Amino acid sequence: KIFSQVIKPFIHLCNRFSSCKGGEEGFKVAIAGASGGIGQPLSMLMKMNPFVKELSLFDLQHTPGVAADLSHIETLCKVGPDQIYKALKDANVIIVPAGVPRKPGMTRDDLFNVNANIVKELAEAAAEVAPKALIAIITNPVNSVVPIVCEVMKKADKFDPKRIFGVTTLDIVRSNTFVAEALKINPKEVNVPVIGGHAGNTIIPLLSRSTPRVSFSDEQIIAMTKRIQNAGTEVVEAKAGAGSATLSMAYAAARFANSLMRGLRGEQNVIECSYVASDCGGASYFATPLVLGKDGVKENLGLGELNDFEKKEVEAAIPVLIENIQAGVDFVNNFK
Ligand code: NAI
Repeated sequence: KIFSQVIKPFIHLCNRFSSCKGGEEGFKVAIAGASGGIGQPLSMLMKMNPFVKELSLFDLQHTPGVAADLSHIETLCKVGPDQIYKALKDANVIIVPAGVPRKPGMTRDDLFNVNANIVKELAEAAAEVAPKALIAIITNPVNSVVPIVCEVMKKADKFDPKRIFGVTTLDIVRSNTFVAEALKINPKEVNVPVIGGHAGNTIIPLLSRSTPRVSFSDEQIIAMTKRIQNAGTEVVEAKAGAGSATLSMAYAAARFANSLMRGLRGEQNVIECSYVASDCGGASYFATPLVLGKDGVKENLGLGELNDFEKKEVEAAIPVLIENIQAGVDFVNNFK
């Protein structure tokens, strides 16, 4: 039992990393918003990732302290605080958790005005100094912020839809955890694809396509879907004014960034769900499972087969997504 549960996974992990000598031959990762609730634990996880050779931290505050602290961790990865252009320059992966989080009673849309400006500026800098980077957007409202980044890139003539991602991984991580709890199995054995967007009813877990198969009743499926859609609010309320999900989000972003880098290294069959510009889902941006490769999205696997309940969820999400997307597009095009 110890062999199969502990030693075997450890050997597997070592094999996976064995062809990467760590800091020497890995990637440059930049984090914008590195001193925040998500940014700090995410920076730590990236400092510990053997695919990262250089970690550049950018924030409006506290980055020298965060970088000095992380620099004492015994890994090869170089870490430094940088001003925005230097931090982003030639980065392979840019992760963006910059912006304000929700407080109890707020929706993700309530963050739009502040966060839209922050991300627009970061995207303009990325277009200038790192047009080939894979950009992973954590900042909410993801449904509108990803279109903002894409519009900025279009204006700069640097748009590549394969390289810009809205990070929805936390929805998958939560789905896996909640389904595993219900089945009383190890969450590592569960995979639930989540499609649509990243707010309220646009978050659509595909429980019919869960691995292993689940045989929940209709009531259980409705309750599980609602819990996954409201899980962010569960954390916001539990934190009672001290912010939103940070630790689980840092974990989820680290998992997503690791997958982006596995794709960049040419590994095969690296699949993650993410919110991207797409013609797959009835809105011009949609989260679906994606095969990741050397240039970002290698293949969009689309919606796949849905049951009647999931089809209705998609139908209900589309008008919300269209409105969220339009808000992002208008923000950039009407900016004065
Ligand atoms: P936080 O307030 O703790 O940290 C945000 C950081 O961004 C701060 O250190 C701040 O100084 C920095 N910042 C602000 N303006 C900046 C700028 N122009 N350039 C660089 N850095 C800037 O917030 P937290 O909890 O880390 O959340 C960050 C964002 O992530 C929020 O918008 C939140 O809603 C979102 N989020 C997204 C999730 C997802 O699943 N995609 C899950 C949880 C949160």
